[in-house]
Amino acid sequence: MILCVTFNPAVDTTLFIDQFTHQYRTDAQRIHHRAGGKGNNVGRALITLGQAASVLNPEGGLVGKMHMDLLAADGVKVFSAAFSGETRLAVTLVDNSGHQQACFAPSTPWQAQDAAQFHQAFAQALAGAQAVCLCGSSPSPLATPLFPQFIQMAKELGAVTLLDSYGPALPAGLEARPHMLKFNCAEAAGYLQRPLDNLEEQALAITGLVTNGVEWVVLTLGEHGALLHAAGQTWLARPPQVNVVNPIGSGDAFTAGLLAGRLQGFSPVECFRLGMACAVSNVTVWDACGMNKQQIDEVLAHIKIQAI
Ligand SMILES: Nc1ncnc2c1ncn2[C@@H]1O[C@H](COP(=O)(O)OP(=O)(O)OP(=O)(O)O)[C@@H](O)[C@H]1O
Ligand SMILES: [Mg+2]
Repeated sequence: MILCVTFNPAVDTTLFIDQFTHQYRTDAQRIHHRAGGKGNNVGRALITLGQAASVLNPEGGLVGKMHMDLLAADGVKVFSAAFSGETRLAVTLVDNSGHQQACFAPSTPWQAQDAAQFHQAFAQALAGAQAVCLCGSSPSPLATPLFPQFIQMAKELGAVTLLDSYGPALPAGLEARPHMLKFNCAEAAGYLQRPLDNLEEQALAITGLVTNGVEWVVLTLGEHGALLHAAGQTWLARPPQVNVVNPIGSGDAFTAGLLAGRLQGFSPVECFRLGMACAVSNVTVWDACGMNKQQIDEVLAHIKIQAI
């Protein structure tokens, strides 16, 4: 079982319309709801990869109930912590040309009791997990200390840990030395407080982070691919040219591939290849981590990886 933790979930509702107008009323052709949140994207991709996945989210209000129902339909095992506010709703309008406009409901500030509930729920969800990923930013200074605590708790139980975060949760989580760190270039540059404009700077940055228990670092570069530093070696993966539909959630798809590979005993570079294949196939579908196994397998053969 791989436990995927999201601190900032939302229900993502998409209304597909013909075109944007200034009229009072627009009738949508189609509506689609999805359980948003980075860890939930990872969970969906893991199910597609044939792995058992559980997810943990803070959930509150009517939107929280809907979020949990949507997660259950995704086939993941659902854990939740009572949240004093309401789970966020995000509504996106998409027209025929693919133009989008997203509107986010206000988020409710965390209370001390929310952090306590989330800690308790994590301790329960952790039982039986072979791997744990903490995904996304911290929603509150009250939540940030949970990042290192959760990594520490998971490591004590022998689980593999992966951190994919940014902002204050990234240095906080890194204190607990997760086995795997994954982030994109902007997040890494923000953390290191220096530009990572070329391959040399990027490779140097991740090499320096593999230390004291952090075993693998993956730096994703959007359409340019990704870098891995593991076992004393740096690898560069380039994606094949694909039809880009929606790149959102590609980093999450990557996380799923890395963890699925690691639990199957793959070498670091083969985990990296599976992560890339998941990420690249994700950009070809609308729904974050909504790609299928066949799409992943087709891309897998076209990922080019070289040691640098
Ligand atoms: N336009 C693209 N074409 C091909 N592959 C892409 C493209 N965009 C992203 N990818 C793949 O997805 C991976 C992750 O992308 P990116 O660096 O944008 O992650 P991210 O910013 O963490 O995404 P998110 O946080 O939305 O999940 C890349 O390493 C690459 O393999
Ligand atoms: Mg990301």
